[in-house]
Amino acid sequence: MKKVFATREWPGDAFQRLSASGFEVSVWAEFNAPPLDAIKNHVDEGVFALITTVEDSIPASLFQSVPELKIVAQAGVGYDNINVASAASSGVWVSNTPGVLDEATADLAFALMCSLARHIPQADRYVRDGNWTCWHPSMFLGKEFNGSTIGIVGLGRIGLAFARRCTGFGMRILYTARSEKREGARLGASLVTLDQLLHESDIVSLHIPLSDDTRHLMNADRFDLMKSDALFVNTSRGGIVDQDALKYALDHDQIGGAAIDVTDPEPLPVDHPLLAAKGLIIAPHIGSAGENTRRQMAQMAVDNVINVGRGERPLNALVDLE
Ligand code: DGY
Repeated sequence: MKKVFATREWPGDAFQRLSASGFEVSVWAEFNAPPLDAIKNHVDEGVFALITTVEDSIPASLFQSVPELKIVAQAGVGYDNINVASAASSGVWVSNTPGVLDEATADLAFALMCSLARHIPQADRYVRDGNWTCWHPSMFLGKEFNGSTIGIVGLGRIGLAFARRCTGFGMRILYTARSEKREGARLGASLVTLDQLLHESDIVSLHIPLSDDTRHLMNADRFDLMKSDALFVNTSRGGIVDQDALKYALDHDQIGGAAIDVTDPEPLPVDHPLLAAKGLIIAPHIGSAGENTRRQMAQMAVDNVINVGRGERPLNALVDLE
């Protein structure tokens, strides 16, 4: 029987389906992620497939001796945690789960934007702390979406789902991309340079993958280009942002606030200086945490494993082995 090791338990019945398809499935039972050594032990013991998440670092060293391993099936769209080139040169497929999490992630980006613009976490705390003594016209004034400019960095599937939400709120939409997108034009969005986007937007939201080209794309110079009351939202990857620069920009009123779902590292230690930044709202990487979305992510990862088990190419292959 081909063995599969999943680094997490997932909602839904995807793993039962995998067992019913003739695989021997073992799942890391703890809440926190397995250490690399535990993953390596499973590889040494001859697993055929690993089902991984964004939090599992899968380095080149894991692919040094992979007698049985045939696929690393990431349950997630981003795969910057996996050394894809080393996997390919060892003859191991790598797959991801594109598409199924676009809407849930766009929802979260939009929710963070609302929380930030209207100070919802602070207002909640204000009431609980016993500060609500009157209705005052100047209390918790926030940014209004209608008539404001949203800058969407990256108009891929998730960026586009986010843009669609913004059109319903009367926002002018700017975006960056390698080239003009037909879907962008259909939404009335304009392609601009990153500098122009940062300069003109009232709210900036990141929707690009982490790569060597995008690491620390948002650095001190780029935060400097933003309006002093502009809001910054990141649901993509923490590594795209120079976090020291973000903290500086917040603490020195170079921008008006930030809401982030992703950090570098993850999890972020509770004593990390970023957590003390002024006007920061933070969530623990829950962009794709929709009930149905998480079930679909697991199903898609399992489909990729089943395909390779049949000697076929995974549906969502990230490498070319043929
Ligand atoms: C992804 O899929 O890349 C998300 O960040 C994790 O759900």
